[in-house]
Amino acid sequence: MYRRLIVPGALAASLMLAIPASADGYSPGAPGIGDPYYPAYGNGGYDVSHYDLRLKYQPKTDLLEGTATILATTTQDLSRFDLDFGLKVSEVRVNGIRASFATSGDEELEITPAAGLPKGTPITIVVRYSGKPSDVKLFGFTSWARTPDGAVAANEPESAAWWFPSNDHPRDKATYDVSVAVPDGTQAISNGVLTSTTSQLGWTRYNWRSDKPQATYLATLAIGRFDITTGTTANGLPVVNAYSKDLDPATKDAARASVERTSEAVEFLEGVFGPYPFNAVGGYVPNVSAGFALETQTRPFYSPKFFTKGSNVSVIVHELAHQWYGDNVSVHNWADIWLNEGFASYAEWLWSEKEGEGTAQELADYVYAQHPADDPFWTVAPGDPGAAHQFDDAVYDRGAMALQALRNAVGDDDFFAILKGWQKEHAYGNAQVGDFVKYAERVSGKPLADLFDTWLYQPSRPASPAAEALGFKAARSVPQPRSWPAIARAHSGSRI
Ligand code: TRP
Ligand code: ZN
Repeated sequence: MYRRLIVPGALAASLMLAIPASADGYSPGAPGIGDPYYPAYGNGGYDVSHYDLRLKYQPKTDLLEGTATILATTTQDLSRFDLDFGLKVSEVRVNGIRASFATSGDEELEITPAAGLPKGTPITIVVRYSGKPSDVKLFGFTSWARTPDGAVAANEPESAAWWFPSNDHPRDKATYDVSVAVPDGTQAISNGVLTSTTSQLGWTRYNWRSDKPQATYLATLAIGRFDITTGTTANGLPVVNAYSKDLDPATKDAARASVERTSEAVEFLEGVFGPYPFNAVGGYVPNVSAGFALETQTRPFYSPKFFTKGSNVSVIVHELAHQWYGDNVSVHNWADIWLNEGFASYAEWLWSEKEGEGTAQELADYVYAQHPADDPFWTVAPGDPGAAHQFDDAVYDRGAMALQALRNAVGDDDFFAILKGWQKEHAYGNAQVGDFVKYAERVSGKPLADLFDTWLYQPSRPASPAAEALGFKAARSVPQPRSWPAIARAHSGSRI
């Protein structure tokens, strides 16, 4: 709103020029998107639709040089806005015109365009940058893992800010073109389809395209020397798998005996969750020391540690299940993490059931019996675990138990209709735990608030007889299902 100024016309005009942007209704976008667990993550004021990243990486020095072209639409009259980023920026342009920029906090790149940007306008942001991502500490760490022959960007929730500027929160999904030049003989792996490679003056450029909405933490980049296998699924999806050339030979064989079953696992999961949502599939196993796997879109990342004791198909099923639960339907807030981990864990139980290595009910009974009532395991509520416990075992195991309880309450027909229907209902979008509860009630026609309160929100072990009514055996002597060791090893890093 303008203030009424009682001054002569000419002076009024000059004052108008001096009025800060906020006085004309234009204001800075929020430095966070509004996630209660991580107030600084993401930003307000705009919505990204596409990232075009043109990168060059030298493994010898860890120097990453890039130009990011970001297509977005303003969601308010914007005088200034932030991107989340950690590398050194040399130039920013908005709609072709140089913009001023500054940094603040751990990862805020504050961009002030030459003129205010009206709400609802498409904008193009170009950011030129360079740096050594493994030197850059944000929140006290780097998510850029060096390998002897390159590097890997894969972490959750923080991964993007070490290699491209973004609106770094799953709520703002976008499509990606990732083009990376690396020295000849080195490869660059990313999400989606490899559309072309070109070679010039000792550098090979890999052009990857991920053409469906993708959360920033699901964008991945791996640079190194890989053995690559390619193929096509029965449905015609291109498959690209990559294994670091440096892996110990026994580990590499076990990795291949697992990751090469990707199409088979996708076929199984399509029967459970409905059609696969993306344009490509695969997986990669770089030579990193980290101990986790991640559901990076279309191309999950697997630590070699999953395969040091032999093959592990459970972890493949887990990360591929996330392509539906996590990637196609993403969390609205990080508090909604059960919508990812509970379902990916339950998919492992369903695979076990199909393989004849223990039914989901047997696994649920076993895990329930493993944790006595005084085990701190029961104090973490999978439906809202808190940032510090976001990836606690309870989110995975009790999270999967909650789904077994749901299955017992509504029966197989409704249960699997819910698992599939939810994917259609929220395809390429975001959702919250509360939305799932309502959806399950709608499909089944049963009141389920109490069931979900018991399994997702109470900081205590669901007691018998309520638990027994849902099929859970309280006895401590429940036998271990044959699939359990592989399933236990498929969990997040803490387990292996
Ligand atoms: N989402 C990953 C999985 O379920 C696990 C995970 C949790 C993770 N935190 C991480 C992976 C940090 C990499 C980095 O498989
Ligand atoms: Zn997971």
